[in-house]
Amino acid sequence: MNNVYNITAIILAAGEGKRMYSKVPKVLHKLCGLTMVEHVINCAKEIGCKEPVVVIGHGADKVRETIKDVKFVMQEQQLGTGHAVMQADEYINDGDILVLYGDTPLVSAEKINEMYQFHKAGNYGVTVLTADLDDPAGYGRILRDQKCLIEAIVEDKDASPDVKNIKEINSGMYFFKGTELKKALKKLTNNNAQGEYYLTDALQIIKAAGYGIAAFKTNDPTEIMGVNNKLQLSDATEIMKSRILKSHMLAGVTIMDVNNTYIDKTVKISRDVTIYPGCILEGNTVIDEDCILGPNTRIINSVLDKGVVAQNSVMIDSKVGEATTVGPFAYLRPGNVIGKHAKIGDFVEMKNSNFGDHSKASHLTYVGDADVGSNVNLGCGVVFVNYDGKKKSRSTVEDNCFVGCNVNLVAPVTVKKDSYIAAGTTITKDVPEGSLSIGRARQENKEDWMKKFK
Ligand code: UD1
Ligand code: CA
Repeated sequence: MNNVYNITAIILAAGEGKRMYSKVPKVLHKLCGLTMVEHVINCAKEIGCKEPVVVIGHGADKVRETIKDVKFVMQEQQLGTGHAVMQADEYINDGDILVLYGDTPLVSAEKINEMYQFHKAGNYGVTVLTADLDDPAGYGRILRDQKCLIEAIVEDKDASPDVKNIKEINSGMYFFKGTELKKALKKLTNNNAQGEYYLTDALQIIKAAGYGIAAFKTNDPTEIMGVNNKLQLSDATEIMKSRILKSHMLAGVTIMDVNNTYIDKTVKISRDVTIYPGCILEGNTVIDEDCILGPNTRIINSVLDKGVVAQNSVMIDSKVGEATTVGPFAYLRPGNVIGKHAKIGDFVEMKNSNFGDHSKASHLTYVGDADVGSNVNLGCGVVFVNYDGKKKSRSTVEDNCFVGCNVNLVAPVTVKKDSYIAAGTTITKDVPEGSLSIGRARQENKEDWMKKFK
């Protein structure tokens, strides 16, 4: 969005997340294809923070393994949000510091950018993202002064009954003037109900230094929604999912049933794509114009060129060329590159194979570790016998071959171009160009045999 800004993002992600009841560190739980903390990191990157600083603690090793292109700082003991930010002190410069939480994945770059504009326009020492909640329990409450700036933030556990009645809450997301934050962190104490170093106390200190502390209130509480358990994870997923579907629909994608369509944040879809119910599009999937997907099709990390029609199928790590049809009931396992105008019909399984333009496997076929040219017809029941019990081998069927029904191609074997393999043949030797190959027992007819038998 803006790389002229001097913003450093600090993302707090050291908390344990006990209520997830999981071996997985809290911020690594996924929604719509990315971990919670990745959503937050992407938000920071979108507003121009090249390498956000992520404060880690619980499950730090796993977080380091999973998350890329950020700077990590370690918070060995979780002594509060202020203490967490102190760990990032070396990165706090005289620019603007954005604090986000690793467990509030629905925060959007649009909102943070609006907040930033507001923060700069008012030349505030701190701007706090706030919201009015019907049930503010558990959150820090915003106390406003006469100028409608922030007087103080009082933690729920430190709040009097009057303060508890305040509906406006602290989201925990802020912009700070870096120089003031740096000074304020040095003065924080843990003299409060929880014995924690509260980041919210920095506001008081910056205010005392003569700066205005402002609230930037969002009217969309989903933006600030924290995820503490699997139920909230599901709620957040639902919200993110509908945002994703909405953005695709507004960009020209037809989605027949929004309640039965799942699209990861990372998926790209062009206009005039139609999605029938029951589709799940995941990972780095890219769908070009005019594709018709579903019903009930799962596509993972795959690239579909223009006009692909796929129904009731599964595709993983594969590439499918223009106007090719897939399914119903096809299974593309990883590593296929399928050409244009090809047909992968019903009950066809394909793995780690190349399959040329205008080639067809219309039904009941296994294509594994194969290089199939263009204009090849694979009859019903063809099997690429790629595994001898110990190792996998590749086979090749060159352009314009006709492979009859129920043919086994025992790898490694090559069928040269323009050849014809008779039905029922088991190919164990290479087939020269332009040949007919038949390998099956000759048929014998014993006439009148039935009469004698009876
Ligand atoms: C904090 C705010 C509160 C606000 C609320 C919004 C303070 C003192 N209070 O509450 O006003 O309404 O967030 O959710 O800041 N974390 C660390 N290290 C720590 C402590 C926390 O990394 O030592 C991380 C957590 O993983 C989490 C985030 O900071 O992502 C917030 O921590 P949490 O304990 O949920 O917030 P509170 O302190 O309860
Ligand atoms: Ca807490």
